[in-house]
Amino acid sequence: MSDFKTILDAAIQQLGGNEAVQKLLAVGASALSNYRQRGQLPAAKQAILEAELTQQGWYLDLEGLQLTPLNSGQQKRILLLITGGIAAYKALELARRLMDRGYQIRGVMSKSAMEFITPLSLAALTGEKVYSELFSLTDEAEMGHIRLARDADIVLVAPATANFLAKMAHGLADDLASTICLATDCPVMIAPAMNPIMWAHPATQANLETLKKRGVTLIAPEDGDTACGEIGTGRLAETAVIIAGIDRLLAPQKILSPLSGKSAAGLLGRHILITSGPTYEPIDPVRYIANHSSGKQGHALAEACAKAGAKVTLISGPVQIPDPEGVETIHVTTAQQMYDACITALPADCAICAAAVADWKVVNHGTQKIKKTKAGTPQLQLAENPDILASLSQHEARPALVIGFAAETENLNRNAKAKRERKKCDWIVANAVGGTGQDAVFGKDTNRVTVIDAQGHEDWQQTSKTQIAEKLITRIEAWFNER
Ligand code: CTP
Repeated sequence: MSDFKTILDAAIQQLGGNEAVQKLLAVGASALSNYRQRGQLPAAKQAILEAELTQQGWYLDLEGLQLTPLNSGQQKRILLLITGGIAAYKALELARRLMDRGYQIRGVMSKSAMEFITPLSLAALTGEKVYSELFSLTDEAEMGHIRLARDADIVLVAPATANFLAKMAHGLADDLASTICLATDCPVMIAPAMNPIMWAHPATQANLETLKKRGVTLIAPEDGDTACGEIGTGRLAETAVIIAGIDRLLAPQKILSPLSGKSAAGLLGRHILITSGPTYEPIDPVRYIANHSSGKQGHALAEACAKAGAKVTLISGPVQIPDPEGVETIHVTTAQQMYDACITALPADCAICAAAVADWKVVNHGTQKIKKTKAGTPQLQLAENPDILASLSQHEARPALVIGFAAETENLNRNAKAKRERKKCDWIVANAVGGTGQDAVFGKDTNRVTVIDAQGHEDWQQTSKTQIAEKLITRIEAWFNER
């Protein structure tokens, strides 16, 4: 029978032995031996241990005295739909890696996918029959397409071609893969891959919007060289990114449990979307409207979230500071681009809008440098930019927790409270801007904020932007913990 010591020692072994674990937990040898004797670990240390094991594909339950491969015993089933495209070959590696994480894979291939890889390779890898025919007598007798569609914990379409997305959006069911998408009652995740022009085409984007509104989870394609030789967005997301998406949806609750204190894993499994920095609104090719935001607060938040184990998408305006480590940073210039990138990055568990987004854009911006003429000064025509915070707060795929910032030069609390209500976000982090010397905020390393939520407000004393970020992350962890 397993006891605490046996399980703890097995976990230590798995993590490379005593010394590695002492380093991980930042404790000495005597502390480890105390934990063994006491049959207990401090909550924060236990959390770090659990998180590290999770990352290595293990599930540690010290109360239930279990150390098992992730998802074993309650193996989650993924129905992997592979549609045609050069990226189809990557689905084989994806299947393999998902199996390494303890998931059970059943494969379905479209006709065009079979032009790129064979069902035999997938069957050999998964050890399962691969399905491709809608009207196959033998398959239907064995496992009808309706059962196939429902006998899974998730349907993953990877790679998803533009054509297949269109079929899904319009509810077509003219082959096995598309019929499954229509007949399933499981969560559906898509990982598209296609030529960049096809990806950017309004038809594809409209189909995508339709699918996202229906609750389909998107693992967005990445930028770079595509197989067709063009550069742009369209490459199938990295295998690890797709797996992280699957883990987020399917990992047992235990793995998602937020932790006490400043542990390394309080936001493990969460996707956090953060905007940061200013936006630039062009007047002509050489001039723009901007503001003083340095991006320091937003970037500090992104770094703190990543350290707490979250998958972070940082949408940053033009800043002079480096991209934070362990964070997917998307660089944008204008408010419209920031808005588009945020909507594409959904779904997320939490959104933090720390960017100083320009309220207006110049509608009649010049394509050439505007010259001084005798006709007088140019008349700039302004139009309002989309409000990213308000849009995220009211989006169909609204993150569970939406946090805004309020930069105010007067009536801080009153204005910020009104802003929270107007933009329908959950919390507002208000700071007085426009100060000078010690009270300056823009570009400085310190900040003083008031956090306002539906219950009231908390005044936080002046401290570094890094510490504010850590404090806010602890508050976010606690919020998820209480749910
Ligand atoms: N915000 C946004 N999109 C905009 C404008 C603001 O997402 N187009 C977000 C900011 O990131 C911040 C919050 O809204 O989280 C408040 O920004 P702030 O500049 O203080 O307020 P405004 O909406 O611009 O209102 P005002 O300028 O009238 O104070």
